[in-house]
Amino acid sequence: ERTTFYQPTAAEGIEAAVPLRSKKWFNDEEDPGMTGIYLERYLNDGVTLGELALQNKPIIGIAQTGSDLAPCNRHHLQLAKRVRDGILAAGGTPMEFPCHPIQETGKRPTAMLDRNLSYLSLVEVLYGYPLDGIVLLTGCDKTTPALLMAAATVNIPAICLNVGPMLNGYSGDNTRLMGSGSVAWDNRALYATGQIDAAQFVQGMATSAPSIGHCNTMGTASTMNALAEALGMALPGSSAIPAAYRERGACAYATGRRIVDLVREDLKPSDILTKEAFENAIACCTAIGGSTNAPIHLNAVAKHIGVALDCDDWDRVGYELPVLVNIKPAGQYLCEEYYRAGGLPAVQAELLRNNKLPHPSAVTVSGRSVSDNVKGDVSRDRRVILDFDKPLTQKGGFINLKGNLFDSAIMKTSVIKPAFRERWLSNPDDPMAFEGPVVIFDGPEDYHARIDKTPGITEKSILIMRGAGPQGYPGAAEVVNMLPPAELIQQGIELPCIGDGRQSGTCGTPAILNASPEAADGGLLGYLKDGDVVRVDLLKRSANAELTPEEIKERRAAMPSYKGPKSQTPWQKMFRESVAQLADGMVIKEAVEFQRIAQTMPI
Ligand code: FES
Ligand code: MG
Repeated sequence: ERTTFYQPTAAEGIEAAVPLRSKKWFNDEEDPGMTGIYLERYLNDGVTLGELALQNKPIIGIAQTGSDLAPCNRHHLQLAKRVRDGILAAGGTPMEFPCHPIQETGKRPTAMLDRNLSYLSLVEVLYGYPLDGIVLLTGCDKTTPALLMAAATVNIPAICLNVGPMLNGYSGDNTRLMGSGSVAWDNRALYATGQIDAAQFVQGMATSAPSIGHCNTMGTASTMNALAEALGMALPGSSAIPAAYRERGACAYATGRRIVDLVREDLKPSDILTKEAFENAIACCTAIGGSTNAPIHLNAVAKHIGVALDCDDWDRVGYELPVLVNIKPAGQYLCEEYYRAGGLPAVQAELLRNNKLPHPSAVTVSGRSVSDNVKGDVSRDRRVILDFDKPLTQKGGFINLKGNLFDSAIMKTSVIKPAFRERWLSNPDDPMAFEGPVVIFDGPEDYHARIDKTPGITEKSILIMRGAGPQGYPGAAEVVNMLPPAELIQQGIELPCIGDGRQSGTCGTPAILNASPEAADGGLLGYLKDGDVVRVDLLKRSANAELTPEEIKERRAAMPSYKGPKSQTPWQKMFRESVAQLADGMVIKEAVEFQRIAQTMPI
């Protein structure tokens, strides 16, 4: 059993490889006056932070993302105490500070809007305060990429610690596992067809969230934290430990210890977040059956560290690999079983044994390579972490589609259900292609208002969601996975969905999403009309409206492009003006110029 997350390395107790960054605040030999000004408030805290700072010990920030507003990450308020103990034990000085809250399910219009805001504010904190290293307390969906993006930009030694998934949820009669998030999608269908009432809907949701922690399915939270580990930015074996387990606290302590040595060794995000590391993470994303939000977030982290990564890389590296982890939404189990089966190291080891981990020698925060980290690991439950030769699904990654509709949109073909395949993808001459007339919705509100009242939606229709991208909705809504009208649901019919928004990682609908450019940025989705025929060929990676270039030109000239609702807050407006498309990570365009700024800081 994996009980240690960290073995002391040769660096422990040695002098730092480079002068501490915090020296510029607290040990300015030329100007003791400035040291005095910087220091006096810290001396005033009553817990000797100032004294420790003067001893030239690494100062380690703890980026706290837990709060009452961010309940998925709230357990970090406790875990941070263990992190502090670890930092102190290794000879560092902890300084904990709050991050802008990001709550996936509670923030309107979407938590995604706040990822870049949290990123920006953390960059300012990391750059402008006397921090030598940083512990990133991650968990809920957008907290992980927001913090990683900031660590990439500033490029001081950094390590991720996620809060851990919730314990398993069970149905009231204990017969079924209730996975967080996924239950909502099941219940929506049951509610729409009158099989459950509103109280049963809410009760079902509650049973799926039985403890502290982030979502216990392979939604965006579990995905992004697994990928932080796969990138090499979290201790091996850490991401899958359930929040409520004893090992989670031990891991917090080990993480606190390790960051102090990362500072001494001067092992920075730029040493770890290489193209090789991203390719390893893409391979792992397929193997775990990861969320469709992952390409957006990893492409963003890559942009901030200066690595070229796009959705073609995801298709090239990830598509052909099998899904090895049998947990919801694609599979049967939840994160407790996943952890007991070995978590990410067992998955990486399975890839490694089959020569499918692209870069085994990539370096990680443990100070060792991925292959050294996971050597000897093996699945302890083959029902949950499957044998490479007996996977949950073959070709489990994302395909990257292109055509006149958009330059990039991804699809997770592994969640296509047999009934959908039968209905849409079973033409023997053209097994992976389908076409049909479109029905268009301008944003989620339009969809909800009209889905059951719009005549002409048939079993042959393709549903289009537009105006849901980064500019259109600000932040891009998780709405592309649209249910068909209730009468089609009753017949068990699923319709293809295409859109410029996103989709929840806990949802198993085979939608074509993250379309870039979006309607609000001039994409052709904005000029489509009801009844236009769209043809998708998954094999050729193409998605086109059957319109001639002349017709497209005429439409562009005749129709104003879709702009979406008015901005309601200052940040929404600024966000819309500065944001890149989903395929480009939805980053702040101007922010990409500022790479690795700690190395060039003119204090
Ligand atoms: Fe926060 Fe899923 S809603 S982790
Ligand atoms: Mg989500």
